Amino acid sequence: MDSRGPGLGFVRQSLFRGCTRTHLLPGPNAISKIDMSQAGGRHKFASDNTAGICPEAWAALEKANTSEVPSYGEDQWTERVCDRIREIFETDCDVYFVFNGTAANALALAQLCHSFESVICHEHSHIHTDECGAPEFFTNGSKLLLIDGANGKIDIGQAEVMIARQNELHSHKPRAISITQSTELGTIYAPEEVAAISGFARDREMLLHMDGARFANAVAALNCASKAITWEVGVDVLCFGGTKNGLAAGELVIFFKKELSREFDYRLKQGGQLGSKMRFLAAPWLGLLTNDVWLWNAQHANRAASQLANRLKTEAKIDIVFSVEANAVFVRMNEKLARDLHARGWHFYKFIEPDVYRLMCSWSVTDQDISDFMADVAALNH
Ligand SMILES: Cc1ncc(COP(=O)(O)O)c(C=O)c1O
Repeated sequence: MDSRGPGLGFVRQSLFRGCTRTHLLPGPNAISKIDMSQAGGRHKFASDNTAGICPEAWAALEKANTSEVPSYGEDQWTERVCDRIREIFETDCDVYFVFNGTAANALALAQLCHSFESVICHEHSHIHTDECGAPEFFTNGSKLLLIDGANGKIDIGQAEVMIARQNELHSHKPRAISITQSTELGTIYAPEEVAAISGFARDREMLLHMDGARFANAVAALNCASKAITWEVGVDVLCFGGTKNGLAAGELVIFFKKELSREFDYRLKQGGQLGSKMRFLAAPWLGLLTNDVWLWNAQHANRAASQLANRLKTEAKIDIVFSVEANAVFVRMNEKLARDLHARGWHFYKFIEPDVYRLMCSWSVTDQDISDFMADVAALNH
């Protein structure tokens, strides 16, 4: 993976190699009338879900739209993605497709836990804050045990205290730990940190789940092998995110311990997550996973975040709250500035009361987007 290059445009240009913009703006009946630059406009930093489909995923989808092929995952695209995942992770593992991250997390945790068992997770974890109780619902009653920890990472000492507090038969039985990589606060667990948590889990006969909605951003930032932050350091199940990385929709649930995936296909089907025309979920994945596009996309998003943070800090003297290690920038901003930026059409969210806002970068953010935002910050910040 080439990490050089003067600016964000450079990286995307190399990504567009052999793949013209017509892939983004196809035939007359589809989205051709939408001007992506305007549609994306001021939502650029609201979320990495506001971006479009990356050209390679789009091209792969279009290419798969040919003749009739077997359904429900019996097609060649699904098989090729699973093989490619085993190649990338350098191990034999079981791979399943789902439509979104909530389903991936909730069904994976349901696979790990009986209804009377519990999951230790960070109080900022998406499974707790943003999944509408889906993990509790699909596990039929498992409890999320919330702990804290600096920078969005769980603190093992607190996990220990939490487990000691469980009252044998009268409490849920701790069964899994869930961590998010990269975290909800834009930080990254180093391989040793994941290993320490999995060691802790294993000593207590617990399993380790990783919410990898932004797994690609972590691999790109650490510049490591995918196995170095997953199965090699004790991750049992990974929910590998594709949506934020450039797909329209789709995540993979990857079981590194194959015995854990027993009858997971039934669980998926019951949970409404078995795609009948699976090739259209799989083909864009193939677009991402070929020629390291997933890493280029993630690296681009990470680099955009780093550039945005540096400019906010140096040009506008805005306080960056957490270390910018992946594609999120958390800033401390007074309410007036946030309100004025919103009034100019910039969408972004307050994440932590009273004054911490999140600016998120995706694969599609450009130098110009950052400059446009900075120009408004400069005009309004006094
Ligand atoms: C950490 C994390 N996990 C999972 C998800 C996936 O959620 P969704 O169900 O919206 O695809 C998200 C999306 O925002 C996320 O930030």
